[in-house]
Amino acid sequence: MSPDPRPPLPGWDEDARPRTTAYDEVDAAARARGDHLRAIHDMYRDGLAQVADVVDAVAVGAQDLGAAREAVQRLGLRAAAEQAGSFCGQLCRAVDAHHRIEDAVLYPALRGADPGLGPVLDRLDEEHVVVHAVLVRLDETLVEVARRPELVTVLAEEVAHLRRLLESHFRYEEEQICAPLGAHGIAV
Ligand SMILES: [Fe+2]
Ligand SMILES: [Fe+2]
Repeated sequence: MSPDPRPPLPGWDEDARPRTTAYDEVDAAARARGDHLRAIHDMYRDGLAQVADVVDAVAVGAQDLGAAREAVQRLGLRAAAEQAGSFCGQLCRAVDAHHRIEDAVLYPALRGADPGLGPVLDRLDEEHVVVHAVLVRLDETLVEVARRPELVTVLAEEVAHLRRLLESHFRYEEEQICAPLGAHGIAV
């Protein structure tokens, strides 16, 4: 059974990102305070790398099954796919929670402190919407994988896409708002 064809995963144009240079001269102490956000992102980076490793390993196993789908192998794949799916689901929920906190607390605090950050914060908001759409899609795939474990190969592609997207978002966010967070004394 081959994986279902699906519409392309959403993404964005990095070149269209607005940028501010207003905080380029912020002192090292303020910059260090704002870098707490980077430490939080590093936690998600590590988690995503681990999820990708597990999902990739199961996907390779699924492909190795080839045409000879013996019952025992299928049971093994089903159990492995379920475990990988649950690990993946947990991390996706954590990433979603991180973005909801930024939307509800961090971005409004920065907007209040410096309205000049508006275009950057609007863009970060838009990127959260795109990431959320990918997370919803991943959630649907996890449901499918529970029914058809061989679709773990689709899950692996979607996790890789999520990782690329989040790395791009984390870097942009760190580059643009770590210094303002520190400069305005906004706790992360
Ligand atoms: Fe964000
Ligand atoms: Fe973030």
